Amino acid sequence: MTTEEVRQAFLEYFLERDHRLVEPSGIIPKDDSTLMFINSGMAPMKPYFTGQLRPPYPRLVNIQDCIRFVDVGSIGDSYHGTSFRMMGSWSFGDYFKERAIELAFDLITGTFGIPAERLSGTVFVTDESMPGVPSDEESARIWERFLPSNRIIGRPPEDNFWGPAGISGPCGPCTEIFFDRGEEFAEREVDDVLVPGRHIEIWNAGVFMQYFKDEAGVFSPLPMKCVDTGAGLERFAMIFQNRASIHEIDQYEKPYQLIDQRIGDAIWSRIILDHLKTSILMIREGITPSNTREGYLLRRALRRAMIGVYLRGISLTILQEWVESLSEVIDDKDLTLRHKSEIAHWLSEERTGFESLMRRSGKYLDKVAAAKELDAQHAFTLKTGMGIPEDLLEEFCSQHNIPFPKTEFLRLIEEHKEISRRQKK
Ligand code: ALA
Repeated sequence: MTTEEVRQAFLEYFLERDHRLVEPSGIIPKDDSTLMFINSGMAPMKPYFTGQLRPPYPRLVNIQDCIRFVDVGSIGDSYHGTSFRMMGSWSFGDYFKERAIELAFDLITGTFGIPAERLSGTVFVTDESMPGVPSDEESARIWERFLPSNRIIGRPPEDNFWGPAGISGPCGPCTEIFFDRGEEFAEREVDDVLVPGRHIEIWNAGVFMQYFKDEAGVFSPLPMKCVDTGAGLERFAMIFQNRASIHEIDQYEKPYQLIDQRIGDAIWSRIILDHLKTSILMIREGITPSNTREGYLLRRALRRAMIGVYLRGISLTILQEWVESLSEVIDDKDLTLRHKSEIAHWLSEERTGFESLMRRSGKYLDKVAAAKELDAQHAFTLKTGMGIPEDLLEEFCSQHNIPFPKTEFLRLIEEHKEISRRQKK
């Protein structure tokens, strides 16, 4: 299935079952100071869960652009992205666990034709961190109708309690569907354990929204019970197309190849594609590079892509060509000519800044390369005294086979921040 076919099949499945299509929002939250970016399909719908606003219909479906910088450290693996499209469906005070699991299983095994033998379902198991929130025995019983017990897996709150999106808001226990990519990815030594890299979460098939968590961390019941589901469109496409990563699916094939031909390293090709794509989405919505909040994340994303190119001795001007190729395949909302010229403008501004940083840093980095070592104190001075960013230091060390003393370096940075905080008080 092409990415486009996956998208259509998901939407049609729910539309045919009395859900209504709701327009996705942009990536910048409106009237929600607890969240920097829309990070899930439910984020723009928070007021529907709390009862503040009435949803346009009790059952909805859509596909939402999401940004998740929390995953930035995992980019380069096969299935994380700082931006992705979430296929989502919702019930607001309508059906709950039973129907949600039925729909999920039917869609995955029926419409998408994934054999049930390759699926596992996870359920929430509580612990002392969640007083008053019980384990989700009910979902486990429902799953028994579809899966053998060794593939119904109880997991703790950090894995199977979703939300809130932001500091406070609606949240609840969830049940996720994992796809088994097969033995060639990793041996499964213990029967009912999910093996990272082999078992991939393909669908959060139901967050059972029942609680509101306030800013003090206290849970209270929501006025109605709701279902919120979310599946990464790119992950589905990756599985159906048997691709090595979400960055290599049909839709991104052309830009990925352009990048990989020059970079020749799958991890960095994925990072560069991911970060450029996310930067395009951000600039499209009016975010500009800066040293605070969203603007800083944009600056970091562009800089990381530049680091990957520059340290391989490739001219940074190539980035404009890759951005153009990506712009051609980013869909949903067409990039207008104005967007394209803004993207080219900011890319060129940031490139100039990066080149000047490299001119300033060059002689210090040369000394590190000659010494073939970098201790934490020296790294700290290079960052705080010379303004050399840590991601550049780290990648520079990796290119020169020099161990980067990350733990100690981060400790020094923390200590430094603490002292500055105290001085400001
Ligand atoms: N909101 C849920 C998620 O993002 C569905 O996984």
